[in-house]
Amino acid sequence: MRFLGINGSYRENGLNEKMLEFLKKEFESKGHSFEIINLREFRIEHCKACVSTDLKSCTPEKCYEIGDDFQKLASKIIDSDGVIFATPSYWYAPSAVMWALIERLTSLENTPVKYLDGKPAAVISAAGEDGAQSAISSIIVPLIHMGMIIIPYGMTYLSGKDDDPETLAYLGRIVKNMIFAASKIPPHCWWENREGTCLSSTIHQES
Ligand SMILES: Cc1cc2nc3c(=O)[nH]c(=O)nc-3n(C[C@H](O)[C@H](O)[C@H](O)COP(=O)(O)O)c2cc1C
Repeated sequence: MRFLGINGSYRENGLNEKMLEFLKKEFESKGHSFEIINLREFRIEHCKACVSTDLKSCTPEKCYEIGDDFQKLASKIIDSDGVIFATPSYWYAPSAVMWALIERLTSLENTPVKYLDGKPAAVISAAGEDGAQSAISSIIVPLIHMGMIIIPYGMTYLSGKDDDPETLAYLGRIVKNMIFAASKIPPHCWWENREGTCLSSTIHQES
């Protein structure tokens, strides 16, 4: 299977990148691929808030018209079997580029198709000292509402040091549990509209 790690840190070789490199080794040792995406290398414009003006105008196609790298990122997310979001704690919150991506993902969960439904996800974070938990929580809440499945024990963090054995044990569990979840979650209608039409992408793709 193909998994994705999305890094919201602005610096090279930071703690988030180190955690993602550890995850990559773990996934690969179990025969799966894990691509690390450093958001700092992509151009992501701010969300244009189409959904606030007209719910139906917030679609991936409309969002792609902005012409930045969002389409590339969205395709990688849609095609993956699971996603691990990694963000620094910047003032107790996710980094701005990570949040820009989260805002733009609105176009994948809004009508007419919910592309993220049933996709396993986990969120990890590194902080100098404090704030990783609040950064993680900020991301987990919208991901749940976008239809993603936060796997059991699907969060962990580092505070200042890069070789905390407890964090490494958690990262190992994330790999094991994400592979399990991705292999077990069948196509399912996670969301239907008021007319009873299923909007979950896995069902759409089947019909
Ligand atoms: C703008 C900014 C704000 C930060 N705010 C916090 C903070 O609120 N709490 C904290 O412990 N560390 C804070 N830090 C430090 C980072 O969380 C820390 O260096 C972390 O390791 C960054 O992730 P990285 O190693 O993947 O780059 C901040 C760093 C920056 C650049």
